[in-house]
Amino acid sequence: MNVTVELDERSYDVVVEADARHQLADLIKKGAPRAKNVALVTSPSLAAQAWFDVQSGRDQFVLTVPEGEAAKTLHSLEALLESLAQRRLSRDDVIVGVGGGAITDLAGFAAATYLRGVALVQIPTSLVGQVDAAIGGKTGVNLRAGKNLAGAFYQPLGVLCDTSVLTTLPERERKSGLGEVAKCWLLEGRGVDELSTTSLSSLIELSVRLKAGIVSDDEREGGARALLNYGHTLAHALEKLSLRDSPDALRHGEAVAIGLAFAVRLARALGRVGDDEVTTHDAVLEQLGLVTVLPAHFDTGEVMDAMGHDKKAHHDLSFVLAGSSGFSVVADVDESTVRDVLERFKGEL
Ligand code: GLY
Repeated sequence: MNVTVELDERSYDVVVEADARHQLADLIKKGAPRAKNVALVTSPSLAAQAWFDVQSGRDQFVLTVPEGEAAKTLHSLEALLESLAQRRLSRDDVIVGVGGGAITDLAGFAAATYLRGVALVQIPTSLVGQVDAAIGGKTGVNLRAGKNLAGAFYQPLGVLCDTSVLTTLPERERKSGLGEVAKCWLLEGRGVDELSTTSLSSLIELSVRLKAGIVSDDEREGGARALLNYGHTLAHALEKLSLRDSPDALRHGEAVAIGLAFAVRLARALGRVGDDEVTTHDAVLEQLGLVTVLPAHFDTGEVMDAMGHDKKAHHDLSFVLAGSSGFSVVADVDESTVRDVLERFKGEL
């Protein structure tokens, strides 16, 4: 299945199918016909996978970056840019990100900045990457002050979501991806009943269609794209605080699942939705096997502080919240209400 992200002359397809990685050579032939060299950016563990047989049809080399979220640092970006320069990658050449969201974010940012921009293809190999991170052109790295604080909008030539590589995905990675799937499902206003009969590939397809449609209308997050941050105000805060312990203490999708359960409780506290919406959210998250408990070790004050510094917050506490006429970004939410809902949510064990 192909879904087009419509951005005039920068439009591109997101291919979702088994063995989609084998379409790389064709994509480069069409999108970057003058390319001589292709840099495949990945991690050591992914480069060792049996499916890592990606052929670009050009001279290609593999550059490895740290595993997981540890890839998304200015330090990794610098090392990657230096390697690209040492290999003399030229303006006509192509960078291919092969990996999860951290790798495609880093590879994308490198492509946006190396020689002021070279062609990019994304081959997301995690569920989070396939349903969200690799689509829509957001690239970047984390700073000590928070997630994704340095980056660029930079659209790829195409995205190849190869569903066959998901079979080797560790369970924790799969679950994490389902956090973003749950977000899309809930944003579409779907209930729990049809969820049990929907296959994983249909869930990926649904999420890709939702995201491609939104990005086509609002590439740079002036409006509707902000809705894709549903659950993310709390999620980013938890991820930032967890990064102090270890880069892998809390995966993005795990944090999003907690953020979704919190956001619907906040919407209820603000009188925007009733108990039925909370029940639906909980049922959807539970059906997908997601954990929505906010671990007790998070300090409420620190979480509040981190949410205030989220780059999406624009100096006040803002959240994507459900309401009687759908979802919207609600700015300047009363701090004591947020604190109160957070405390009660933490007690829900
Ligand atoms: N992950 C949200 C977005 O791409 O806009």
